Amino acid sequence: MTKIRAAITGIGAYVPEYILKNDELAKMVDTSDEWIMTRIGIKERHILKTPGKGTSHMGAKAVQDLLKRTNTSADEIDLLICTTVTPDMLFPATANIISDKVGIKNAFSFDINAGCSGFLYGLSTASQFVEAGKYKKVIVVGADKMSSIVNYTDRSTCPIFGDGAGAVLLEPSSNEHGIIDFINQVDGSGRKHLHQKAGGSKKPPTHETIDAQEHYVYQEGQTVFKFAVSKMADISLEVMKRNNLSIEDLDWLAPHQANMRIIEATGRRMAISTDKVMVNIEKFGNTTDATIPLLLNDYESKLKKGDNIIITTFGAGFTWGALYLKWGYNTPE
Ligand code: UT7
Repeated sequence: MTKIRAAITGIGAYVPEYILKNDELAKMVDTSDEWIMTRIGIKERHILKTPGKGTSHMGAKAVQDLLKRTNTSADEIDLLICTTVTPDMLFPATANIISDKVGIKNAFSFDINAGCSGFLYGLSTASQFVEAGKYKKVIVVGADKMSSIVNYTDRSTCPIFGDGAGAVLLEPSSNEHGIIDFINQVDGSGRKHLHQKAGGSKKPPTHETIDAQEHYVYQEGQTVFKFAVSKMADISLEVMKRNNLSIEDLDWLAPHQANMRIIEATGRRMAISTDKVMVNIEKFGNTTDATIPLLLNDYESKLKKGDNIIITTFGAGFTWGALYLKWGYNTPE
């Protein structure tokens, strides 16, 4: 019997209008365009400024874009997975709010939180539902309003992050296209290096936790940097090896966009030529769960049916992974 694979059959994206440039950041904290460009490689990031709007607003816009571009009705969707670290509220799931906003009624939906690896965890989870045969149209939407948890008086974190959302549609494919393999990993002891100290059940928010600024991203940058490079490169090579895929066979590497130096060092460690590495960090920054779909969206017109692509991520947890897929379509002119 032919194996059913889950193929990406379309992409949707949304970033908010407001653009926060390095020069504006330099008026808020002691930094400069030159430092940020040299050490991180980000020129600007989009920020959701509209009061009362959260992650679901951007996620719904990305899903609406996806439905329009794929000529799909909301009624046809069987499952929607939202990956985020900045849910609208602790419960209910942001996936449910997005489903409601776009009119998805004949489905179930849930959130996944795996730090910056969320979209990869979501994509690999969704692929299992499609491969099982019962689910025909599954959406994975990665969305984050990082500006809601970034401390804009901390120069070591505020230049890094941006807001945005991206979504893909997964459908069954009985040919060789689609998701071929993946490896996801976790090391929960890494949580001490990257987390949010208060706001959850262990330390609910109080005036004291707010005064101590414990509701913001806490990050030990250098530790995260080192782990990110070695883990993304090594797990990508591992999934390639077990699928007999050489560096020459690989058409594209789609790495999580956390820092330009992390992307370059990952590419060097894998010995892949730079023109095969997808990059758009300069204009969006690290949008956490949205980096991978925003990358695929930007490169969509360059992707050809049958292209071998490795997606790799690293994030809070620590979580990391690599997914091998054969691209399923040529973008119409
Ligand atoms: O998505 C996964 C999550 N996050 C990541 O992957 C981030 C991983 N880490 C990084 O990207 C980098 O470690 C950072 C961008 C966070 C920091 O870059 P770095 O090259 O590791 O800098 P550093 O922390 O070693 O700091 C070097 C210097 C320090 O000054 P002193 O102590 O040498 O005088 C910092 O205070 O740079 C200073 N510095 C800044 N200077 C100007 C830190 N941030 C800034 C800034 N502007 N924005």
